[in-house]
Amino acid sequence: MLNENLWYPTDKIFINGKWKDCYSEKTLFLENPSNGEIIAKITDSDERDVDEAVKSASNALRSSWGNLSATERGRLLFKLSELVKNRLDNLAFIEALDVGKPLEQAKNDAVALARYFEFYGGACDKIMGETIPYLKDYTVYTLREPHGVTGHIIPWNYPMQIIGRTLGASLAMGNACVLKPSEEACLTALAIGELANEAGFPEGSINIIPGLGEKAGASLISHPDIAHISFTGSVEIGKTIQSEAAKNLVPVTLELGGKSPQIVFEDANIDKALPFLINAGIQNAGQTCSASSRILVSKKIYSEVVEKMSSSYSKLKVGQALEDKDLGPVISNRQKQVIQNYLNYSKDLECFAEGHFNRDLPKKGHYVLPKLYGDVKYSHKLAQEEIFGPIQVIIPFEDEEDAIKIANSTKYGLVASIWTLDGARQMRVAKAIKSGQVFINNYGAGGGVELPFGGSGYSGHGREKGFEALYGFSTLKNNCRNA
Ligand code: NAI
Ligand code: MG
Repeated sequence: MLNENLWYPTDKIFINGKWKDCYSEKTLFLENPSNGEIIAKITDSDERDVDEAVKSASNALRSSWGNLSATERGRLLFKLSELVKNRLDNLAFIEALDVGKPLEQAKNDAVALARYFEFYGGACDKIMGETIPYLKDYTVYTLREPHGVTGHIIPWNYPMQIIGRTLGASLAMGNACVLKPSEEACLTALAIGELANEAGFPEGSINIIPGLGEKAGASLISHPDIAHISFTGSVEIGKTIQSEAAKNLVPVTLELGGKSPQIVFEDANIDKALPFLINAGIQNAGQTCSASSRILVSKKIYSEVVEKMSSSYSKLKVGQALEDKDLGPVISNRQKQVIQNYLNYSKDLECFAEGHFNRDLPKKGHYVLPKLYGDVKYSHKLAQEEIFGPIQVIIPFEDEEDAIKIANSTKYGLVASIWTLDGARQMRVAKAIKSGQVFINNYGAGGGVELPFGGSGYSGHGREKGFEALYGFSTLKNNCRNA
């Protein structure tokens, strides 16, 4: 079924505008998480492929790609955006089978991918330097310049969205890119190679090398000609990447997940909040860096919120990706085990509600029920650690001060939301919360191409998305001229 929908090779690497075999000629297999079937063979790239990809990117910077004006780069990104739009359904179908996410969610990701290229296409020629008043007879101005070859290591949970935000901004600034997608889901990443050629991107400006993290990924981050690294994934590998990059003094952007809270005060519009409270936790089966896994609720409305959330939870359905229910399977058996291990710590908690499996789910699919736990103490393991599954905890709080203390009690700081109609409280709490993004009376898990995104602490550092990402993907040169 998938093969009829694939219009580009999946068992090759994309280097210098061409598809080729990887040096080792070894292959890895991609599994459909909905039924456990193997859906594609991909390459197991190694340091030789990485070296060739980085060389091709360096050449592109010295010639064709490096010679384009910002406006010309923008036009290429617009063209890429159009090509993605022409293939939205096809790309969504491929992503749904590869990642296991419900088809409608995969469609949103394809729309976001097109929008990222459009946004950064438009931004290319609108990022400017400054002139700086200085001594008499001096003219001082700053220039924004690309880093050079940027390395991009991305995970399996939102390939299209993450490709859009990381490649889009990097290409906009004139860097040449080497992308190492996840060995667990990388089919849409490979589509970008074919689309880049169709759009007319110069050879070598975009290179794509699927393979294992410890092999292809590790050689990419330690390659001496990589000038910047963008990584989205686990805390553990984020730490490895930062320390490896330090050996060559290469800057890194790390986006490592979170334990994002939504804080519901007693004057909140609960009915408006309800779909956000739940969707932000179960979207992509909870495998979302900005998932909201902690729901902090004022004791004054606790029972009402618990009742309403539980009632909605018990209607949630888990199905195969193409059945397009509320949740699909999780990515792998390993991820299912990680979630189940966390649930072993839930024995002292009350499970308020859980969803249902759709009928006749394939035995070999990796299905997990969404579960809502209540009366959880904020220091509990399930309220402190990122689970990366559809598990949410409700934590009661006394007052504003208590809510802030609980919200700030984890090592993470990625996204938060505040539900209250009191404007002064909105401002106070938003200021007090440790978080890269704060939403007030909404929650934008993953959304908002225009909104700078990133965290602090164990959520990582640096910003992607929005205009802000363009600063991270460039370096500033100060020019000082004496008449
Ligand atoms: P991971 O961090 O191991 O993988 C992410 C990417 O890094 C993949 O492309 C992988 O090939 C690459 N990688 C792995 N080891 C590497 C190395 N030594 N050098 C360079 N690149 C390397 O994440 P994984 O194993 O897929 O998931 C483990 C846990 O990480 C999940 O259970 C979840 O908690 C968290 N996670 C968080 C994500 C987020 O969006 N913040 C995304 C994916 C996972
Ligand atoms: Mg891993």
